[in-house]
Amino acid sequence: MKKWSAARAPAGRIAYVNGRYLPFAIAGVHIEDRALQLGDGIYEVCNVISGRPLDEEPHLDRMERSLRELGMDMPMSRAALKLVMREMIARNRIADGFLYIQVTRGAVKRDHIPPPPGALRPTLIMTMRTQDPGALNQRMEKGIAVSSQPDIRWGRCDIKTVQLLPNLLAKQAARKMGAFEAWLVDDDGYVTEGSSTNAWIVDKDGTAITRDLSHAILPGVTRRIILEAMAEAQLKVVERKFTIAEALAAREAFLSSATGAAVPVVAVDGQTIGNGAPGALTRRIRELYFARACVKPDLKNA
Ligand code: PDD
Repeated sequence: MKKWSAARAPAGRIAYVNGRYLPFAIAGVHIEDRALQLGDGIYEVCNVISGRPLDEEPHLDRMERSLRELGMDMPMSRAALKLVMREMIARNRIADGFLYIQVTRGAVKRDHIPPPPGALRPTLIMTMRTQDPGALNQRMEKGIAVSSQPDIRWGRCDIKTVQLLPNLLAKQAARKMGAFEAWLVDDDGYVTEGSSTNAWIVDKDGTAITRDLSHAILPGVTRRIILEAMAEAQLKVVERKFTIAEALAAREAFLSSATGAAVPVVAVDGQTIGNGAPGALTRRIRELYFARACVKPDLKNA
């Protein structure tokens, strides 16, 4: 078995931790950070294209909302956060990749009761990683398989917390089944979302279907952008829940996330979707998604 190590991670060389830009290899937080001890923190993953954070405002909106739901404020002004994001992109010299932003309630003697708002300095960290265009392209060309897994998560999946144990156990189970992603199924037999992506199917009439927003799913930024782009292009889309049986009868399926835009799903639980090849609507949606991301690599004017 290959040994996992920090050195092997495709991360940028510079990390941001509470006001400091540090070499990735030595960057760290306190061992009593509440995210480490209690999962008391939230995060965002933002796509970076041509040196610019994509969908920055909706990501920061969601970050603010996640923090609010935890009774926390933004760790700094939005303008300051944007500056740090740009500084990270510049210092890491990564034009195309992903920015990871995490905010925790801070470091303090372990106690279940959160300290009152403002009593603790929150921990703000950012890291960057490059894209792996080869792996991504392969997923686009061949499509991926998903495996249905029970959704055993908590009742507030709309908050992007760092508590991801049920998600990663589901992903692990899916990988054991030879699938790339898990589609989580609620107690009533409906798909909520993927373990780290939103789930979509396209029915026989060419209507795209994705679960409506509630506490059961993360309000994906990519999901929202796709919905807006589809409405603009007058493509048929409906927000409602669907079952695995519906997915199996679908013409095509895909998943959405900042890390993959729209990735075609060609098999569910070992059964082929449509003709087993990435669908035409998925391709169109990818085009629409990237069409609006045509930004110049002009960091100076950011
Ligand atoms: N995951 N649903 C879940 C459970 C997610 O974790 C994610 C994102 C999404 C898609 O959201 P967005 O379109 O805003 O990326 C849906 C990120 C990429 C992650 O955990 O790495």
